[in-house]
Amino acid sequence: MAAVVVAHKHAGVFISKSKEDALCTKNMVPGESVYGEKRVSVQNEDGTKVEYRVWNPFRSKLAAAVLGGVDNIWIAPGTRVLYLGAASGTTVSHVSDIVGPDGLVYAVEFSHRSGRDLVNMAKKRTNVIPIIEDARHPARYRMLVGMVDVIFSDVAQPDQRKWRSSRRISSSPRSR
Ligand SMILES: C[S@@+](CC[C@H](N)C(=O)[O-])C[C@H]1O[C@@H](n2cnc3c(N)ncnc32)[C@H](O)[C@@H]1O
Repeated sequence: MAAVVVAHKHAGVFISKSKEDALCTKNMVPGESVYGEKRVSVQNEDGTKVEYRVWNPFRSKLAAAVLGGVDNIWIAPGTRVLYLGAASGTTVSHVSDIVGPDGLVYAVEFSHRSGRDLVNMAKKRTNVIPIIEDARHPARYRMLVGMVDVIFSDVAQPDQRKWRSSRRISSSPRSR
């Protein structure tokens, strides 16, 4: 049976309709999974194919927020995002899909172990700029970061609210 994928209310996010609906994003790097996630291919009428990656809400708080019905994620095609707490890039890879080739994701992570996976993921995703630094010290990485539209923070630190200002969403209800 051919896969059917429809647009979600948030631009750049999609739903794959089958036995069980699944959230997905349009794969920036067709043929490649990032963390073992499923891929869904759709054939257009002109014969061209588009590939989507299933976005697991149990692996990504942003996906869980979208499934939970959050009003606005501020992240859309063409958006520039400063993402604090990138880990190995699971959610960052979907943000990369959403912002697409006209957007940018500056992904900050201070763990060198996670950072290795993040850097490898970014080699294939030209819209991801990995920054292995402590997000609490923006002076150390600000020369790498241009103007952004959105700051997304998922550093899982109790004082993360102090780190940022500007239009943002956060995975932590305490920081709102
Ligand atoms: C909950 S995990 C992030 C998961 C990731 N956002 C995702 O959805 O795939 C939190 C991450 O924040 C990183 N982190 C914590 N404090 C940090 C800091 N001061 N600077 C940069 N990264 C930090 C941790 O190393 C960890 O990888």
